[in-house]
This record gives sequence, structure tokens and C-alpha cells, in this order.
Amino acid sequence: MRIYGQDIDEKKLPAHVGIIMDGNGRWAKARGLARIAGHEEGFKSLDRLLNANKEIGVRVITIYAFSTENWKRPPAEVQFLMGMAKKMIVDYLDTLLRNDIRFVMTGSFEGISADLKEMILGAMERSKHCKSYTLNAAFNYGGRKEILDAVRRIAADCSGGKLDVSKIDEKKITEYLYSPELPDPDLIIRTSGELRLSNFLLWEGAYSELWFTKKYWPDFHPRDFCKAIADFQKRKRRFGKV
Ligand code: FPP
Repeated sequence: MRIYGQDIDEKKLPAHVGIIMDGNGRWAKARGLARIAGHEEGFKSLDRLLNANKEIGVRVITIYAFSTENWKRPPAEVQFLMGMAKKMIVDYLDTLLRNDIRFVMTGSFEGISADLKEMILGAMERSKHCKSYTLNAAFNYGGRKEILDAVRRIAADCSGGKLDVSKIDEKKITEYLYSPELPDPDLIIRTSGELRLSNFLLWEGAYSELWFTKKYWPDFHPRDFCKAIADFQKRKRRFGKV
């Protein structure tokens, strides 16, 4: 199909795209605005993408909404991001449901307020029948923390006699991660010109293709998403083979 100026083979779409939505703060600063204005605009950018994706058709999108490192930001900004998460669930869940988008979270509930946790679990429950798309929010997420949590649970199951050490393999480790039911991301996009993963989907992204743009997240357009997919489709993925 020809979409947003790109030729995209719909039979070879990435099943799962991860997005590091970076640059909200710099977008705001460049306009003399407060950082939180950048996050608000970033939310609009996400909405624009999810809307466009109804035509593009990527089944699973994971967004890096709040990392375990983001707690170190000024308290007011942390508060604002927690508020945005609530807003997303209260005001935006109906839009997700209307578009048949299932909402899931990948991350830890440690440090998350009881009411927000309840809201997140409620949104997951209310959208679990949605089958067309999945929006996976990496929220209070860190790749190392995810692996650490898995190791702890595996160790507990081993010492409790529920799991035999000889049964631990890569598949078993995946089962103990936050979202074992999701496919690994085929493609990871990062905006704002930074060229690193910053603790995002470390295990799952082992073979992901990476795509970077200098644009700040609020300026990211479905056109850029389609360009990333078109570029992805031109790459040769070998998974270690020749
Ligand atoms: C990175 O930009 C962005 C974030 C840490 C938050 C992204 C959140 C959204 C786009 C809205 C959806 C959010 C939730 C919680 C549901 P940055 O602040 O690191 O930008 P900078 O590197 O320019 O400072």
C-alpha cells in the first residue's frame, strides 16, 4: 500500500514497534514553554499516531511513557506525568475502546499509588476484549529491573520446588518477564537524536531493528512512522545467521 508517501508491504509489517518518545522537554524549551507543555504536546503526537495506525496496521505498539529513572526528575514533573497517566486512562480509554485497542502495561507497580494502580488494572480489564491493536505502556519500566524481577521470581520458584533449574532456558525467562504474551519488537524507534536504548526492552529488543530521527517527539508525524517502517522493510534481518 501507498501510505503517507511511503510504499509499505502490508504483509511484512513489523508485528510490534517500540517507541522511545524522547524530546518533549527540549521541544518545550525551544518554544520558551514549561517542560510539561512538551509532555502535553507529546500526548497529542501519540494520539495522532494511534489514529493513523488504524490505516497503517501495526498490531502492537509499546510506548516508553515513564522509566524507572524518571523518578529522579523534579517532583512537580513526576507528579505531572503521573497525572497524565491518570488522564490517559480516564479521558482516553473510551477512544482506545472505540478503536478496538487493548491497553496493557509493562512495568512495575512498586512506588505507584494505589489509586493509579487500580485505574491501570481497570483499564486493562475493560479493554481486554479489544483484538485489533494493543497499546502497551512501558510505565515505571526499566529493562534491567524487568530482568531483575524475573530472576527473583525464578529463584523463588526454584527454591519453592515449583521450577527445576534444568528447565530454565530463554523461553522460560521470557515467561517471567512483564508481558510474555507480546511478540518481541521488530522495530524500535527513538526520537530527538539520542542514539541509545536507555534501558528500554533490553531482553525483548535483542534482535530489534533500530531507527532514529532527530525530530522531537511532539513533532513526530505518522509520515515519520511510515518512513521508519519502509526503511525497516528494506533491511536484511539475519538473527545471527548468514
Ligand atoms: C521524554 O521526553 C518523554 C517522557 C519521559 C514522557 C513521555 C510521555 C508522553 C509522551 C505522554 C504519555 C505519558 C503517559 C505517562 C501516559 P523528555 O522529557 O525526556 O525530553 P527531553 O529529553 O527533551 O528533556
